[in-house]
Amino acid sequence: MSQGGGRTVRPLQSVHIFADIDALSRDAAGRFADASSRSIAAHGRFTVALSGGSTPRGLYRLLGNAPYSDSIEWQRVHLFWADERCVPPDHEASNFKLAFETFISKVRIPTEHVHRITGEVSAEIAAERYEVCLRQCFGDDEWPVFDLILLGMGEDGHTASLFPGSAALREQVRLAVAVRKSPPDADRVSLTLPVLNRAQLVLMLVSDAAKARVLRSVLDENESETLYPAAMVRPVEGTLEWLIDKPAARLLSKYRSSSDT
Ligand code: 6PG
Repeated sequence: MSQGGGRTVRPLQSVHIFADIDALSRDAAGRFADASSRSIAAHGRFTVALSGGSTPRGLYRLLGNAPYSDSIEWQRVHLFWADERCVPPDHEASNFKLAFETFISKVRIPTEHVHRITGEVSAEIAAERYEVCLRQCFGDDEWPVFDLILLGMGEDGHTASLFPGSAALREQVRLAVAVRKSPPDADRVSLTLPVLNRAQLVLMLVSDAAKARVLRSVLDENESETLYPAAMVRPVEGTLEWLIDKPAARLLSKYRSSSDT
């Protein structure tokens, strides 16, 4: 949406600031559970795409323990990933391994409801396989609409595995793409922006003072979207909630700390 002069007017952001990552994780776990109840009541299942990295670890640990390990109707949950590194599922860098060890192995979710990206093969093959899986799970002739997508933001403003300047940011047809990285980083597979932006709810979890400057550009300064992929996450009909800890929020001028600190 643009108003003269090419400046993009970003819709009002729902931004919540927390004292620390633990408070942020507790709030995120509550939102995850609420979204699962709403989705299951509305259409009988809850489809979620997870992210990796360090920020969601606290949230995932909470999901793997009471009350959430018992209260969420895990047998109606379908887990996917927003992105994955092209490593085996038992590799330290695997986003699947992070989720499996922190909560998937501790809850009663049917194995066939865990739709991991097969990182053990090439990025191109893994992306093609994941695309087939998504079309089987969501229907062949329309864009997948996830009930929830959990995202993080890197210090360079990337989200999922959509990095600044990447051709993947311009993908408007495919659901998932291969993302080449330079060694020692593993190649990756990522959902594309059209999929991210069709989610009913996106929770963007941002922690760490090192992200404060980029976060200000993304939230306060309406930086050109192409600079920071996280700024390109703008759900078409869904809701975007930023969950930010105080260190990451230290340069934000427009937002106050959330009451749930
Ligand atoms: C990944 C993630 C990635 C992550 C950001 C933030 O596979 O690395 O999906 O997009 O969310 O890099 O990572 P941290 O939470 O570690 O800061």
